Amino acid sequence: MAPLIPIRRVVIGQNAHVAMAAQLSADRPDLEIRGKPFTEVTDDDLAWADAYLGFKRPALPTMGNVRWVQSTGAGVDSWLHPVELPREIVLTRTPESFGPMIAEWALSRALASVTKLNELAAAQREHRWAPSDVGTLRGTHAVVLGTGDVGTHVGRLFAALGCRVTGVSRTGRGDPAVFSDVVSTESLAHVAVEADWLILTLPLTPATRGLVGDTVLSACRGTFLMNAGRGAVVDEALLPRALDAGWLRGAALDVFEVEPLPATSPLWDDPRVMISPHVSGLTTIEGAVHGFVECLAMFERGETPRWVVDRDRGY
Ligand code: GLV
Repeated sequence: MAPLIPIRRVVIGQNAHVAMAAQLSADRPDLEIRGKPFTEVTDDDLAWADAYLGFKRPALPTMGNVRWVQSTGAGVDSWLHPVELPREIVLTRTPESFGPMIAEWALSRALASVTKLNELAAAQREHRWAPSDVGTLRGTHAVVLGTGDVGTHVGRLFAALGCRVTGVSRTGRGDPAVFSDVVSTESLAHVAVEADWLILTLPLTPATRGLVGDTVLSACRGTFLMNAGRGAVVDEALLPRALDAGWLRGAALDVFEVEPLPATSPLWDDPRVMISPHVSGLTTIEGAVHGFVECLAMFERGETPRWVVDRDRGY
């Protein structure tokens, strides 16, 4: 599906709109651009625009004359839930690859856990010499949910450090050079039993919402859970019980059901949990703008970029 060409007027709804607009007009001087934080975008802006570039939908009743939306994030759930962007508006996700950065986020958490980085830092603050068994990543088993761009980059780093890496995906497919085996999502609870690391890189769709709930968590045997996809893929309210029961030995969470994570969440004070504020894979100005320009050029050539979102699949 392609939007009606020509696309001439673009609204950028992002905090970084000034830098993005400067980059976009340098790349495509023929475009007219209006930029604002998305909370300040008006009905008039959307009536003026052919295309919209941003992470979230402005809280306005319609998208005006916008015929194409490009999400600056890889996850497009905020464009599909709770209200779906009308299907006649083409939705693309940014072509920018967040895999390499998220892979480093996951690897840093795994290494921090096996080398007991937090415990040693606490001991150091107390001037306490506290030898304890530190482990290695080598020889452990990582189960990666999602075998797309992000999951593949994560799997590659863990495999490079000597882990066995199992992929889990809707299709049961994944790069054989990275994953020693790939199973379908129905087998998740089965492979979770053996996982030292359960690493979530999934988009939020009706099929993934709550996927890591009671059945999967209670199948875990001292697993370390990491989530860099979307918070609602995990039943977050169950995490304290999963940690206390020893199903999980720890967790590194970058995404949450509600963001910012409410100050009242018990996860903040749990020393077994490493929290980061949705920074595992960050959109860059160049990546977002070049990705927009790339998709626009493809539409102009009559091609359909592979970043057009499949509305039924949700990504
Ligand atoms: C960030 O969360 C993204 O979807 O890219």
